[in-house]
Amino acid sequence: MSSQPATPARVEHQQTDKGYVPVYTTAVVEQPWDAYTAVDHNVWAQLFERQRKLLVGRASDEFLVAQDAMGMTPDAIPKFAELNNILEKATGWTLVGVEGLLPELTFFEHLANRRFPVTWWIRKPEQLDYLAEPDLFHDLFGHVPLLMNPVFADYMAAYGRGGVKAHGIGPEALVNLTRLYWYTVEFGLIRQADGLRIYGSGIVSSKGESIHCLESDAPNRIGFDLERIMRTRYRIDTFQKTYFVIDSFEQLMQATQPDFAPIYARLAQAPSYPAGTVLETDRVFHRGSGEGWPDDADF
Ligand code: PHE
Ligand code: CO
Repeated sequence: MSSQPATPARVEHQQTDKGYVPVYTTAVVEQPWDAYTAVDHNVWAQLFERQRKLLVGRASDEFLVAQDAMGMTPDAIPKFAELNNILEKATGWTLVGVEGLLPELTFFEHLANRRFPVTWWIRKPEQLDYLAEPDLFHDLFGHVPLLMNPVFADYMAAYGRGGVKAHGIGPEALVNLTRLYWYTVEFGLIRQADGLRIYGSGIVSSKGESIHCLESDAPNRIGFDLERIMRTRYRIDTFQKTYFVIDSFEQLMQATQPDFAPIYARLAQAPSYPAGTVLETDRVFHRGSGEGWPDDADF
């Protein structure tokens, strides 16, 4: 029926004379499941087993429960269609295959419609510990489980609608909103009765950061504060200098309900904070030692 090629493109960052730059793509593709090699399935299995072991006792109970409920296993790369059977019934979200990074507005529109874009291809064996862009492991293992959680599922859709709106307001609004995504969806911590736990996808899909974010003295761990986060720059190439801690997904949902337009207007006048700053007004769970921090610019 479709005129798509049997195997969609693998769109990755490109080395150019301006350095290593992201390449964007808008296509939605069928997951070419039969095209995965034994090496691909083995990369999935290794990463899955390594991270699951690390995350029991470190990731939030909600994350671990949701991942089990989805039936993801290390045995083989999951089929999006099979995960969708479960996910759609649970929270109305569906996974769509993509070839790589999406332009911002396209990404927001998917989220607003409860479609989560998942990169179809998986990293190479020599990239187990790090790659600069999202792949199937980051997207599926990291992001998708919490879409089973009704409150988090609603937050992600609200974020998508908020993204469409911020895109219409302008680039500064988008910078503020992207920082919120970064410090919650990608690098968020949550306070559980038995201590701090991870829920951010960028952390759960990284071996090094899963340990660093909870156990290292170096980074700050600070209570969630919406406008504070919107003003805080971040690192894209090293571990975070600061993690923000929510008390619950309900708190996150409630704090982000208000119309952000007046906040964006106010913040347009306000200076941003460096990634490692601690403010007097912060609720500090841990003040980072700053050990090993690079002092070059953050975003
Ligand atoms: N309330 C936000 C707005 O008016 C939308 C939003 C919700 C953004 C949840 C992020 C997360 O823009
Ligand atoms: Co991500």
